[in-house]
This record gives sequence, structure tokens and C-alpha cells, in this order.
Amino acid sequence: MEVQSLLNSQPEHAPLQNDLLLRAARGEAVERPPVWLMRQAGRILPEYRAVRAKMGGFKDLVESPVHASEVTIQPVDILGVDAAIIFSDILVIPEAMGLPYELVEKVGPRFPDVVRTVQDLKRLRTNVDPEVHLSYVLDAIRQTKRDLAGRVPLIGFCGAPWTIFCYMVEGKGSKDWALPRRLLWEQPAFAHSLLDSITEASIAYLQAQVKAGADLVQIFDSWAGVLSDGLYAEFMMPRLRRMCDALSPLVPVTVFAKGGAHLLPQLADLSCHTLGLDWQTDPRKARQLVGEEKTLQGNLDPSILYASPEVIRKKTQEMLSNFGTRRHIANLGHGVYPDVDPEHVKVFVETVQKSA
Ligand code: CP3
Repeated sequence: MEVQSLLNSQPEHAPLQNDLLLRAARGEAVERPPVWLMRQAGRILPEYRAVRAKMGGFKDLVESPVHASEVTIQPVDILGVDAAIIFSDILVIPEAMGLPYELVEKVGPRFPDVVRTVQDLKRLRTNVDPEVHLSYVLDAIRQTKRDLAGRVPLIGFCGAPWTIFCYMVEGKGSKDWALPRRLLWEQPAFAHSLLDSITEASIAYLQAQVKAGADLVQIFDSWAGVLSDGLYAEFMMPRLRRMCDALSPLVPVTVFAKGGAHLLPQLADLSCHTLGLDWQTDPRKARQLVGEEKTLQGNLDPSILYASPEVIRKKTQEMLSNFGTRRHIANLGHGVYPDVDPEHVKVFVETVQKSA
């Protein structure tokens, strides 16, 4: 879609009262770093578990715009974070392409059907239309924008092509993703073709999220860490570049490549505004590798939230000083663990907010 027609077609939304996230992403002046948490909408909150319990299952919640919107806003009300992230999952893209997912309690995602050969690709839908195949997410975004009434920005997201490829090939989680990595060498034509289809669907999906009201989009490359520099450069960078170039004229874009410290010199060339860091990455070294033109997001070790409030305060302050005051969005280095005490999460959030 044309940039201008997309911007013109955005519905009218209440002006943002707190736009710290967007200013920090664009490198504008901020009074203090904005703070939110990956996986903030979820099992840490008893209020989430209550909504989840009255629905049939995770997918019923994801596919119900009213309830998805309710749990998206909970962390804003309860934890006081500076952004909401739409309650959904990266696995909705494989499903829209024709591979439905299931979420098995205490086990994780499962795909009854997978793709592993060029032949298999014929079964996939190549022309994903988000307004048709992912309308429930877009409805949830529109509902959430209305209900947030401009309190904080809303983050949209999708998985990076590599991470989605991993699930579509393997059909479940994996430690080393040996099979998807094997197919990059053994069946490069299959890999390129599937990665292209995922990329096109994801661009259309993110553009539709922006049109529905998402103020910033994040691309999650959760399994980037298993790829070498060379494979990442060959198979992933051209697709990430396409995604960032298509979205960054519209809204700020964040790329989070977990385990991707070795990839930072490449990622620094993307047109995204922000790069997310996992907790193993040293913020000072990352800043040297990335330069001054990007915002960095992260990266408190999520396990620190099991420590005492005093330790959480100290470690959060240390993290803030390691990033410095410029171009930083405070977050964890990965998703918050489900059994962390919400009071401890509040200590983290408040420590950042008092840092001005
Ligand atoms: O961050 C948020 O609060 C927004 C919601 C969100 C979910 N998944 C909800 C969810 C986001 C941004 C995601 C992204 C996601 N999903 C990623 C990328 C980020 C990452 O963690 O690296 C990945 C790899 C997935 C795939 C996925 N979905 C897995 C591996 C699991 C099972 C693991 C788990 O935590 O149970 C899910 C399920 C899932 N997605 C849950 C939530 C809240 C748990 C479902 C529940 O029991 O309620």
C-alpha cells in the first residue's frame, strides 16, 4: 500500500497523552526513558488469569477482540507501564497462511501440519489478506485504541521470517532448531520461497496493524541466536530490510533479535528506529557496535524480578546507567516469567519512572 494512502486511511484516534515511547524511539528528547515489558499482558497478572479462565482457551482469547483488548490494557492500569502491546501471538501468521497452531497447556505451541518441501508449499495461502484472515487482530487493535483513549501508545507486532519459518518447519519448539537450519543448506529454494511468503504476509499484516491504529511495531526474532552471521546475512537480512523499509516511513519500528549480539553490526544497517537487546548483551558494547543513530531497548535479566525489591531497584538503576540517558527504552532482556510477583514488576517500572 502507498505510504500516503495508508496514513490518510488511519482512523481518528485521541491524541496521545504519554508519547514517551515514540519520542524515545525517534531519538527525540525525553524526560526519562519509557518502560514496558515483553509479555506484560499475560499470566503474571491474576486479572489476566481470570479473563483467560472464563474463555475456552488461549486462542479463544486471542480471537475475541473485546477480551484481547481488555487484557492488553490491564498492564497499563495495574503496572503503570508507558505502552500497551496488543494481546495476540506471532503464530497467527502461519495460521493465516494455512497452518493452524494449537497451544498445549504446559507444553507450548504445536502445529498438526508442517511444511518441509517445495511440494508442501502448494498447500499454503500466498495472498494473505489481513482484513480477511486476521480481522480479529485488527478489530482488537481498533477496540484497544478506543478504550485506551490516548493514555499510552499501542505496540503492534509480528514474528521475524526466520522465527516463523522455524515453527512452520519444526511444528513445535526446539532447542537448536536443527531441522530448519538443515533445510537452509539442503533445500535453499524451498527456504527462500517460504521465507518470501512469510515476509510478504508479515508486511501486509504490520501495515494493516498500523492502519488499525498501532503506534509502533516490533518484529520478534526469537530464534535469531541459532544462526551464524553468514546465514543471517544471506537469508534474513534482505527480508528484514524489506520489512523495515515498508514500515519505518509509517511508524517507529523495533527489531528484537534474541541471542543476536553477534548480529548487531548487520542489524545496525536496517532502517528500523530501535534494536532490542537480550540480557546477555552488554549495553555499552552494543552502543559501540550500533552507533548513535538507533534507540536501544532492554535489557534487565528477567530472573532479577525474583530478587528482593532492594536488589531489583539496584539492578534496574545499574541497567539505566549502562544505557545512558539518550535513546533508551527500558524493558527486560526477554519476556517476563509467568510466576513473577506483579509487585516486583511494579518495583522495576517505578524505578525507571523515578529515574528522571
Ligand atoms: O508481550 C505481550 O504481552 C503480548 C502478547 C504476546 C504473546 N506472545 C502472548 C502469549 C507476544 C508479543 C507473544 C510473542 C511470541 N509468541 C513470541 C516472541 C517473543 C518471545 O517470547 O520470544 C514467541 C516465540 C511466541 C510463541 C509462543 N506463544 C510460545 C513459545 C508460547 C508458549 C510459551 C508460554 O509462555 O506459555 C506461546 C503462548 C503465549 N503467547 C502465551 C501468551 C500470554 C501463554 C498462553 C497462556 O497460557 O495464557
